Amino acid sequence: MVAWVTATVPGMAKADLAIRDVVIHDGSGGPPAEGDVEVRDGRISSVGSAGAASVDLDGAGRVLCPGFVDVHTHDDGALVRDPGLGFKVAQGVTSVVIGNCGFSAVPVVPGEATGGALDFRGGWGDLAGYGATVEGGGPAVNFISQVGHNTLRQAAMGLEKRPPTSAELATMRGWVFEAMEQGAVGLSTGLMYQPGRWAATEEIVELARAAASHDGLYNTHLRNEGDRLLEAVDEALLIGRESGCPVHLSHHKAAGQANWGKVVDSLAKVDEANGTGADVTLDVYPYVAGSGPMYQYFDLERVDVGLAEVIRIASCLAFPELEGRMLTDVAAERDVGLAAVVREVLTHPLGKQTICIQFLMREEDVETNLGHPLVMVGSDGIPDVRGQPHPRLFGTFPRVLGHYVRDREVLPLGEAVRRMTSLSCDRFGLAGRGRVAEGDWADLVVFDPRMVRDLATWDDPRLEPAGVALVLVNGQVAYRDGEHTGVGAGRALRFRELGPQG
Ligand code: ZN
Ligand code: CU
Repeated sequence: MVAWVTATVPGMAKADLAIRDVVIHDGSGGPPAEGDVEVRDGRISSVGSAGAASVDLDGAGRVLCPGFVDVHTHDDGALVRDPGLGFKVAQGVTSVVIGNCGFSAVPVVPGEATGGALDFRGGWGDLAGYGATVEGGGPAVNFISQVGHNTLRQAAMGLEKRPPTSAELATMRGWVFEAMEQGAVGLSTGLMYQPGRWAATEEIVELARAAASHDGLYNTHLRNEGDRLLEAVDEALLIGRESGCPVHLSHHKAAGQANWGKVVDSLAKVDEANGTGADVTLDVYPYVAGSGPMYQYFDLERVDVGLAEVIRIASCLAFPELEGRMLTDVAAERDVGLAAVVREVLTHPLGKQTICIQFLMREEDVETNLGHPLVMVGSDGIPDVRGQPHPRLFGTFPRVLGHYVRDREVLPLGEAVRRMTSLSCDRFGLAGRGRVAEGDWADLVVFDPRMVRDLATWDDPRLEPAGVALVLVNGQVAYRDGEHTGVGAGRALRFRELGPQG
């Protein structure tokens, strides 16, 4: 390993920090340039050459690029409980987008749990309060929020399987307006989850209009990602047209063997829509399995055995001995049917807290997604590190750079960097970030393009990646040569606002 040289250089008006001898991929996707980068007061003060600096770091010819933006996270709770977010920082991630799949930290009804995937009682009230709470804890990375439909609906009308009354709809709309005024990116939905799945398209259009009034985004976990993927894409495009929101499709995939290859058709739909006046983007995680709360995927009256066949238990408070095991192995060992195993897990008093991993996709479709110029990268990591979590929580960004860029040559390095930085910042309104440009915030990562790789696997999912040398968040060193500095320089970002000194 090349050692960093830290030196104090005498002289006036020194920069805070200089990173010398790096190959700069500036986030634009254009060709790289060799040189130095200088940082002052949290921002990039020079690109190309650097003057004297208080801290001098030798990049030793490695790649420097903007810090990665994880556009699909469920870190809303982790930012409160575990603001160090080591699993993100070690990948070179400097900002996260929260409030995905319809689950968000707001609204919170005082004294009541938010429900769903983010079951916590927030003391913050509104989005401004949540941002202040997290910022006060010194988060390692920046964060920007969406307001989630599942959370809105549960707060307004519980888990009722019916349309909202006009008063309930007005309550939800009011919360969307409030969140947008406080800097939210837009509205997210999770239409395959409870309670979002009980909402008709018109309900979502009404709420998306409230986001559109602030130029916000409509970001959706589609109603169906398998047999009816294309119809679900049509619904999302319709919601965009009717509401006036740009549309973002989360973790684009074709789930289930019978549907493999359909991502080609849904990407064609997106291209066609964009060719006729729509504004649609997507994200993907670089793995062939998904993960989420197991109870959300099963109807206990009619257990989907085909789905149960491809499920592995990630974490399970009810039966910890099942963690890391395929349900098929458990059923065979006990000589019982798969449906019986599913029912036993989910009917236990703690069963709802079970997180599972579903092996439903194929590699070719992941590569098709990564080959598309409008596909960003989002981990969809669930920050519950108990048991055997999905390795995407620790490996997503280095996996794109190592496996898909270097080993598989699915996309060039500069293009991968663009899709993990400037494209994401432009789409999610992270102003003054996502490019190595003078005056922009110094969210930066230095990595070795020959060494960078994910080490987290299905059986050993908590390993931090290799090859990431340095991570700066707002000009502060968050991670260096495998060491987390513990500096919490992350900020609460507001949609399209530059920030304190902006
Ligand atoms: Zn989702
Ligand atoms: Cu998600």
